[in-house]
Amino acid sequence: MALPGESVSQGDYLEIVDEKELGSIIVQAYDESYIPSQSLTEDIIRDQILEASARGIDLDPHEIASVSELIKDMRLLKCKIRGSIQNGLMLPNVSWLPSRARSKIRKISQSKLLDLSGQTGMARIEIGTTKDGEAFTVLGEAMDGNLSIITGKKESGKSHLSKIIVSSLVRNHATVVIFDLNNEYEGLAYRTDGTRNEISERVVLLEPGRNFKVSFDYLGEFSLISLMQHVLDAPGASLREFIRIIEYLKQHGKLNLQSFEETIQTWRCNELVKDALHSRFQLMKSSGFFCSSQDESETRLGELITNLQPLGGAIIVSLKKCSSLVKRLVVEVVLSKLVQLLEREIIPPTFLFAEEAHLYLRETYWDDIVTRMRHFGIFTTLITNQPDAIKEGIYRQADNIFLFNFTNEADLDMIAKASTADSETIRSIVRTLPRRHCLVLGKIVSDLPMLVKVSEAKFLTLGQTKKFFGRSQSNDHHRKILIASKTF
Ligand SMILES: Nc1ncnc2c1ncn2[C@@H]1O[C@H](COP(=O)(O)OP(=O)(O)OP(=O)(O)O)[C@@H](O)[C@H]1O
Ligand SMILES: [Mg+2]
Repeated sequence: MALPGESVSQGDYLEIVDEKELGSIIVQAYDESYIPSQSLTEDIIRDQILEASARGIDLDPHEIASVSELIKDMRLLKCKIRGSIQNGLMLPNVSWLPSRARSKIRKISQSKLLDLSGQTGMARIEIGTTKDGEAFTVLGEAMDGNLSIITGKKESGKSHLSKIIVSSLVRNHATVVIFDLNNEYEGLAYRTDGTRNEISERVVLLEPGRNFKVSFDYLGEFSLISLMQHVLDAPGASLREFIRIIEYLKQHGKLNLQSFEETIQTWRCNELVKDALHSRFQLMKSSGFFCSSQDESETRLGELITNLQPLGGAIIVSLKKCSSLVKRLVVEVVLSKLVQLLEREIIPPTFLFAEEAHLYLRETYWDDIVTRMRHFGIFTTLITNQPDAIKEGIYRQADNIFLFNFTNEADLDMIAKASTADSETIRSIVRTLPRRHCLVLGKIVSDLPMLVKVSEAKFLTLGQTKKFFGRSQSNDHHRKILIASKTF
């Protein structure tokens, strides 16, 4: 129970200290209400009626009124036990119950709890502040080797948080690859006034078709066949002929787009297969993502990433202007190359940030991301405003979840059912989350759900939704700063 004057609300942690025991119990308030008592309600109604109907003088020699007012305004906090503190260490289990009569209850700050939970690491990521105004810092080590999900409704600040995390990871010398749908991550390289910041040298922007093209030779058989099969949907017969053509081209040292076309023309096979291959060739050519002649410069991901070492950096793959086919081509190429490079230990383990991945990630990659790719060293963060676009199974495998506000019941259901935290906490806290606040769940907070106000950006924020009214404002302004800083 909380008196009206006591400042404690949803999401706060409380410590129940029993003097006789050696430790204390940690609970988290997940819901608050007035005391649900029939007689109190009747009292309030009676007071109201009396006040409205009879004028008189209040005589209260024993000052009972103030006590009864306190009782009416007292709040009932529903809490969940999150663990106990014993010998100065936070433990997830509780083996005893405190006394109801003698125990003292006091607030305990989130940052103190995180300290007590014994996380160790060097890569600090400052996300924002807690309700008490303390800085909220998590460790990059908790994202290492893990799958994270950032979700919430539209414009709730998901990309903003993801940029803060990317920026901190890069500052801590990690290698990050980003699939950027709205051309917004480029701002990471600039301060809010548009000048280049200390990581700008290590932020590389790749625009497919412009400064990001690949050659057949560089892709190699494995990636080419995978492209043909999964992105260009070649049927079995055509795929077989394609494999034969690729082998032939490789033997003759002519593995390039031009020779591929010439070979299709002269290749002896079924006309329908020939047609099918030719139409795929046209798609590849028109995508502009493949070098059409040998002297066109190609991008070698491996070289790009090794050049960024040992300091690490961010490689932003800009997908905004790409058609859906090109998006899928690019993502397939980047992922298959990353896996190859990691397999041969040419590049260090890499963090992957994928915005709205359901728009371009093929079906079979989802399971790969949580299992196989993680073993190779690709640690993914998925960012989406459509929680049902990610399969339930993937939420269960997620090590960290950052939840922004959701009001839609179906979305809440989905998240509450699938994540590791209990559904009451998620339902009642997430529904009432203010803007720019998020609930952090998972390893990164030692499985203690925590509320954070995400801080403002220290970099240029791009990617605001374009609006008709008030067009000349913010986003355009920031782009202009960016363009100006590039020109001069
Ligand atoms: N903590 C914050 N402090 C200041 N500005 C913020 C904060 N979080 C978000 N914003 C701003 O709010 C706007 C929306 O944020 P953001 O683009 O991150 O939302 P989103 O959830 O990714 O939206 P969408 O669903 O459209 O992708 C942006 O202009 C961003 O700069
Ligand atoms: Mg976004």
